[in-house]
Amino acid sequence: MIPIKLLHFFASTGLPKSKSRFSSFNAKFHENPLGLPRSDAPPVIPRMQRGLPQKRSIPGVGKVIAVSSAKGGVGKSTIAGKLYFIHPVALQGRKVGILDTDIFGPSIPKLFNLSGEPSLDNRLIPLQNYGVESMSMGFLVGEEAPVVWRGLMVMKALQQLLHEVEWGALDLLILDLPPGTGDTQLTITQQILLDGAVIVSTPQDIALIDAVKGINMFKKVNVPLLGIIQNMSIFVCPKCNHETSIFGCDGARRTAEKHGIEHLGDIPLHQSICAQADLGKPTVISEPDGIYAQIFREIAKRICNKIGL
Ligand SMILES: Nc1ncnc2c1ncn2[C@@H]1O[C@H](COP(=O)(O)OP(=O)(O)OP(=O)(O)O)[C@@H](O)[C@H]1O
Ligand SMILES: [Mg+2]
Repeated sequence: MIPIKLLHFFASTGLPKSKSRFSSFNAKFHENPLGLPRSDAPPVIPRMQRGLPQKRSIPGVGKVIAVSSAKGGVGKSTIAGKLYFIHPVALQGRKVGILDTDIFGPSIPKLFNLSGEPSLDNRLIPLQNYGVESMSMGFLVGEEAPVVWRGLMVMKALQQLLHEVEWGALDLLILDLPPGTGDTQLTITQQILLDGAVIVSTPQDIALIDAVKGINMFKKVNVPLLGIIQNMSIFVCPKCNHETSIFGCDGARRTAEKHGIEHLGDIPLHQSICAQADLGKPTVISEPDGIYAQIFREIAKRICNKIGL
């Protein structure tokens, strides 16, 4: 929705209330973030001359993928963090790491049942559980301590997490992204050579509206979209086996079709997935032969195939 202040502005200037004026990809300068019409708009200067960072790879890391959705609470961390992608790769003796890029609400320590400070050897040394290397802001601050930082501090911390972790030799690094399409997403997509992005969404329209924003952001910055995972697709009653589509049933699949990307699979809403997240014990570890582990493995295989792992 267009802010009321801006509507007043256009009412007074008589300019058209075209939506495209507010496209987040239009004229974006820090002194005019809403792209308001102005006579002294700064000239467009090429990226290099503006001193913007060039994309680079993370030392020692083979492939890097981002698990994202502009929507919060749809299961990004649960999916990224519980080895669902990792298992088939790990089975082949390859090394996998996960980087929690959520500075304000890190989830990886809990999901991996990890605590303690990563040692410092000029660079941060990741912690390990289930054979997976992980790094998170949550290792550096207490579980109950809020990070009360302004943007510049957050970006500095993110850059250190991206460039100053000693991963050793990893075949795959998974980045668990926070919700939104802001600073963190921009920094990652501008600074890191990503092999692809996986979008997670529930089937509900209200989640998909934001997921589509995420899709368009990755398209805009030329990061390959590996596909959408539809999380919480269906709920099967453990007592009577009745199936309920709590958040709708097919939204993410239709969105995938519409945007020309692959629908990677459906993950049901299930109490055990939630409980295992709190226990810090991934489904593929606690119930390796269960139906959910099988679903995650299939999705993981698809992703690994797509990035050539
Ligand atoms: N398929 C599922 N079945 C049951 N619970 C789930 C499922 N997927 C995720 N959850 C639960 O939903 C909640 C949100 O999941 P999660 O924290 O992974 O989302 P997120 O997208 O990473 O959130 P944020 O945007 O805050 O980073 C958690 O309590 C998690 O355990
Ligand atoms: Mg998360």
